[in-house]
Order: sequence, then structure tokens, then C-alpha cells
Amino acid sequence: MPTKMNHGDTQQHEFRHDVLIIGSGAAGLTLALNLAPDLRVAVLSKVALTEGSTFYAQGGVSAVLADDDSIESHVQDTLTAGAGLCHEEAVRFTVEQGRAAIEWLLELGVPFTRGGGRGHLHLTREGGHSHRRVVHAEDATGRAIELTLVEQARRHANIELFERHLAVDLITVGGPGAPRCVGAYVLDRERPRVDVFRARWVILATGGASKTYLYTSNPDGSTGDGIAMAWRAGCRVANMEFMQFHPTCLYHPRAKSFLISEAVRGEGGVLRLPDGKRFMPRFDARAELAPRDIVARAIDHEMKRLGIDHVYLDITHQPADFIRGHFPNIYQRCLEYGFDMTREPLPVVPAAHYTCGGVMTDLAARTDVAGLYAVGEVAHTGLHGANRMASNSLLECLVFARAAARDILARRNEPAWEGPLAPWDESQVTDSDEHVVVTHNWDELRRFMWDYVGIVRTTKRLERAKHRVDLLNGEIQEYYANFRIDGDLIELRNLALVADLIIRSALSRPESRGLHFLRDHPDPDPALDGVDTVLAPRSRPRQQTPLTIVSSARRPLR
Ligand code: FAD
Ligand code: SIN
Repeated sequence: MPTKMNHGDTQQHEFRHDVLIIGSGAAGLTLALNLAPDLRVAVLSKVALTEGSTFYAQGGVSAVLADDDSIESHVQDTLTAGAGLCHEEAVRFTVEQGRAAIEWLLELGVPFTRGGGRGHLHLTREGGHSHRRVVHAEDATGRAIELTLVEQARRHANIELFERHLAVDLITVGGPGAPRCVGAYVLDRERPRVDVFRARWVILATGGASKTYLYTSNPDGSTGDGIAMAWRAGCRVANMEFMQFHPTCLYHPRAKSFLISEAVRGEGGVLRLPDGKRFMPRFDARAELAPRDIVARAIDHEMKRLGIDHVYLDITHQPADFIRGHFPNIYQRCLEYGFDMTREPLPVVPAAHYTCGGVMTDLAARTDVAGLYAVGEVAHTGLHGANRMASNSLLECLVFARAAARDILARRNEPAWEGPLAPWDESQVTDSDEHVVVTHNWDELRRFMWDYVGIVRTTKRLERAKHRVDLLNGEIQEYYANFRIDGDLIELRNLALVADLIIRSALSRPESRGLHFLRDHPDPDPALDGVDTVLAPRSRPRQQTPLTIVSSARRPLR
């Protein structure tokens, strides 16, 4: 089992594994379960093991399974939704492996809903898909997948699960221009104390960054930690301006953006204004089943035009048994909030939902830094382009996690780096007596991101946001340099860095495309077809000596 080394009187520990996986959602756990049993694997979750976006996924996983469907059709739908920015190679790579990924989940025991005839899986439909191709477990697909993966991981003696362990920064070493990731500094939130986790391969599977926005469908942990850590370690990021807003979250003060699955529209739900009129046919021939960017923007437009707080999602024309049968969890949750969706339309609003950009990877999920992989929502693989199609995200988690596992297994005989790693340095800091700075900055950041960098943007608003995020980053950096860290501060530091990346990316794309809508440049610019927004950290490529510890406790933000 992993060795623990105590660094004398500092009380810190050094943990040693072959593979360190930061994140226990679909991406992280799929990777862990596809490694060989003799590799020692650590999986970290900064909160409870199941608490990530995966657990809350509703609609399902897209895969070509129906007789009348085809790989080509799934590829073309994905390319269309991606509005000229998908990497076709990544799309084909992903789509072609859909069936195998679903079969693997079935072997593990995920209870997908049957009923597609001859005992086949039931396939539902979502926006952008020209066929029924979404495999699901009722309307709580993510929960079924996550619980199965966790149960499987617990059975594997080589996988060690660390709950409430928050990775703060990556540790890199290396020669000139050739950094290698050899571990991470990790805050054990129970003790609390920062330990060194050393590993031959490190995987970022930390999910997305939708918490950058005031209203989001995501759980609290979607703070872009992996993107921020990768950036600080020297990785490029791409297409951060493409933040996806899900059109339909329940509008209710207590619901905290509870999602109403796109599958409700897939099974016939329509959007209505307060006077009962449908409006989506005015915006797109595909109406409620247009890709998400179009539907979210149409709702935003109507809400602003009429000065209303929400629109309605209406599926009452379907029989009550059908609704309860297809959406038992959504039905129950809505009842708890006082809405019977079999009898009345649901009030809905858009909310930040998915980070299409992220850490740049190749088809084996490798990043710019040797030994460092990025898998799942944290990554930019080229699959989603300017707008992710519904249910392609879980598919991407599964396909790229399995690809990363294959790559690691192919490299297992490469020599490991065995030099010393510096323990976390707390000698220059004190306990904070000003926690209000952290809470205030959290709120301020998320509000101006919502107001200025949301569904509809203007260059002027983006410039305002840039000014504010620069001020915040300065303040946060000073705070980080002087005070002992805790989870809130680490997440705020990451959120502010990621917000800056989003704003800079948005400012460098003077056009409207997919999820990025700029009112002063309302059309796509053909010259930008196929052109990603790539940001590189200033210090790339790095100049390091083999023993340099690059990530240290008090490194300035870039
Ligand atoms: P997550 O599942 O978000 O897991 C992230 C993990 O990283 C967590 O374990 C977290 O604790 C850990 N972590 C983060 N930072 C740190 C850190 N610093 N240190 C240690 N651990 C850390 N997609 C679909 O394809 N189909 C759907 O039907 C669907 N429905 C959705 C419904 C909702 C409400 C939401 C929010 C998303 C939905 N999505 C859906 C998107 C999809 O669920 C996510 O993109 C996907 O689950 C991301 O998986 P992941 O493994 O990359 O990250
Ligand atoms: C949903 O069920 O509407 C979410 C699907 C997704 O985000 O892919």
C-alpha cells in the first residue's frame, strides 16, 4: 500500500502512489477502474466522494445504439451544435467509442432504463440530436453511474479513496522547457494540514467552473480548480469563452437552480410565455429542440423584452402516468417545491451549466506537461467546439478516461522521478482575521460574471468585468500570500483566475458563435471558423533545473 513519510516536526505527510487522480466523478473513477490492479492509485475528492456534477446528471449518455441511427449522424449533429469549432478527429474518436463505453457501464451494473423493445435500452431525445440516442437511468442517470463507480472502486484493493482532500497546486519538476508533474499539494480538510501526494502520473478530473456565475445548475465544487492548477503549472487552456447556460432550471427561491432535464423537452415539453403562447418556433425551426445556446438566448431575450422573471416549461399535454414514469425524480422534487408538473407548467430560467473550454489535451488526454492528464469537464479535447450537445459530456468523460488509462499502461515501464519534494511552507503566514474579504469577493465575482459575462455580452461589459477581475485578483493574491489557506480561499483563488481566463478569451473573440454572443458583433466571422481561442501562461516554456520545486505554497498568480 502507499507509503507515508513524515517530514519530521512539520507533521506533514508524503503519500506515494503510481497514479494520483484528482476528482472522483465519472472521469476520475472511470480512469481508476481501467488501470491495472498492480498500480497503486489515489483518488481525491475535495468533498464527499459522490459530490460532483456527475451525481446530478439527469438526461443521460449519448451513444449510437438504435438501428436507424449512425455514427455519421451523431458526428454531424455534434459538429453542427459546435458551430464550426469542433475538432472532427476528436468528435469521431468519441462517438465511435460510445457503444463500448455503455457496454462497460452495463458490465459494471449501471441500471439503465430498458423498454426500447426486445429488452433493449430505452433511448430518449435531447436538443441537437437528430435521433433518439440518449441512454438513461430514469431521470437520474448520473446518480446511477456515480454510485456504481464508487461501489466498484471500493472493491479494488489498489484504489485508495481520499474524501475531503482538496488539491491546492500541482508539483512540477524538469529540465529546460520540459516540465514533468510529479504530484500535488493537498489540503486534508479534517486535520487541517497540507500534505505532499507524490505520483508518477497525475490526472486532473476536477470537473467544470460554472460556479463562476451567480446562478448555476452545478454543485458548489464546480470552481475550476483543475483549470487553475494546470494553468499555474504551465498548461495552455482553450475556448474558455464558451460557457454553456442550460435553458431550464426551476425558478424557485429554495430550488437553488434545480435542473429540469432537456429530456422533458425531448419527450414533448414546450416553452411558453406567461400568456401561454409558445415562442421558440419564432427563433428556430427546431423550436424547443434547438441546441442549448439558441434556446437559452431566446429565453433570455423574451425575459428581457417582457421584463419577466422566468418563462414556463409545459408538458401537461402528456398523460400523467407518462410524466411520472419518465421523470419520477424531477416530478417528486417539483412537488416538494409546490409544483405538480402533470397539471401545471413549471417556471424556468437559464443557469450556468457547463464549461466547454478547458485544459488542452490530445486524444490520450495528455496535457502540455509530461505526466499530467486532464479528463472530463476540466479538459478541452475539441469535442464540444462552441457549444456542447446534450449528453455528450458523460460520454466524453468515459471515452477519454479509458484512453488516458491505456496511455498510462503503455508507459508503465518508463522510469519514475525520485528526487526530493519540498513540504508545504506555512512559515510566512498567519491565521486570517478578515474572512469577510473572502466571502465578499466570492459574491462580487459571481455577480459581475453573471451580469457582464453571461448569455448576452458586449465588449464594454467585458471590459468592465476585466477591470473588476484584475482588482479582485490583486486582493486575493495578497490575502493568499499572507494568511493560512482554507477551502474557501483556495476555491476563490481558482475562481478568480478562471474568471480572468473566461473574460480574456471572450474579449479576444470579436464575433458571435455558439455560446459566445457579443451584441456589438452579432454574427459569426468566417475568418474565425475553426480557430480556437488558445491562452498560454506567460512562463511557457519553462526554464527549470531538475530539482526546482515549481509549485510552492506562496507562488504569485499569473
Ligand atoms: P465531476 O463529476 O464534477 O467531479 C469533479 C470531482 O473533482 C469531484 O469529485 C470533486 O470533489 C473533485 N474536485 C474538484 N476540485 C478538486 C480539488 N481541488 N481537489 C480535490 N478534488 C477536487 N452531462 C451529460 O452528458 N448528460 C447529462 O444528462 C448531464 N446532466 C447534467 C445535469 C446537471 C445538473 C449537471 C450539473 C451537469 C450535467 N451534465 C450532464 C454534465 C456532466 O454531468 C458533467 O460534465 C460531468 O459529470 C463531469 O464529470 P467530471 O468527472 O469531469 O467532474
Ligand atoms: C439535461 O438532462 O438536460 C442535462 C443534459 C446535459 O447537460 O447533457
